[in-house]
Amino acid sequence: MTITFHGGDTGRWRVHAQHTVKGDALPPAARVAVADTDSDAPTHPAWSLRGIVSNLRYTGKDERERLAARQEGLGRRQAKAAALIPIRKDPRWWALAQDERRAIIEEQSRHISIGLEYLPAIARRLHHSRDLGEPFDFLTWFEFAPEDEPRFEHMLARLRASAEWRYVDREVDLRLRLDD
Ligand code: HEM
Repeated sequence: MTITFHGGDTGRWRVHAQHTVKGDALPPAARVAVADTDSDAPTHPAWSLRGIVSNLRYTGKDERERLAARQEGLGRRQAKAAALIPIRKDPRWWALAQDERRAIIEEQSRHISIGLEYLPAIARRLHHSRDLGEPFDFLTWFEFAPEDEPRFEHMLARLRASAEWRYVDREVDLRLRLDD
């Protein structure tokens, strides 16, 4: 499934903060539309980012089961806050072998173990963009109740301090809200 995030003047999600963590910024947007068909696209977006919901690459069987037992889906009624965090990793990352990348993600950085601590409050979906020739490699999307944003912040701080994030060379952080 290909998903496109359009930043601009229209869309269900209102941007309440947009900041550049690393690398080049994205043009400012007031709203974000999440579209799974071209007909949903706004006419003049400031930017559009595409990604594919794909298979898991690095997650082992036990981890998969633990995730499945705890994770919740998108679109929950109380999840009126979201984060869209596009990420690119540098050429050193892509030059590593699959097993080396797995070791950095989990054995060194504890990405999956840390993430699991924050389920089910945070619902998520990972989109792969690299093979589409997009400016980012991943579009990460998270939904949660506004009161869980401090916990989300805490998780982000832990992940950004990890060995895995040394390979991140572009990252933009957009925080979104659904209006009542
Ligand atoms: C909510 C808790 C989280 C959980 C449970 C979680 C879990 C996972 C899992 C299981 C994978 C591996 C997917 C695979 O096997 O291919 C993954 C990948 C990834 N996650 Fe998370 N994650 C969480 C939070 C985050 C956050 C906050 C970010 C960034 C802001 C993030 C960014 C990524 C990225 C970029 C990848 C792809 C890594 C790569 O393929 O090189 N995750 N996550």
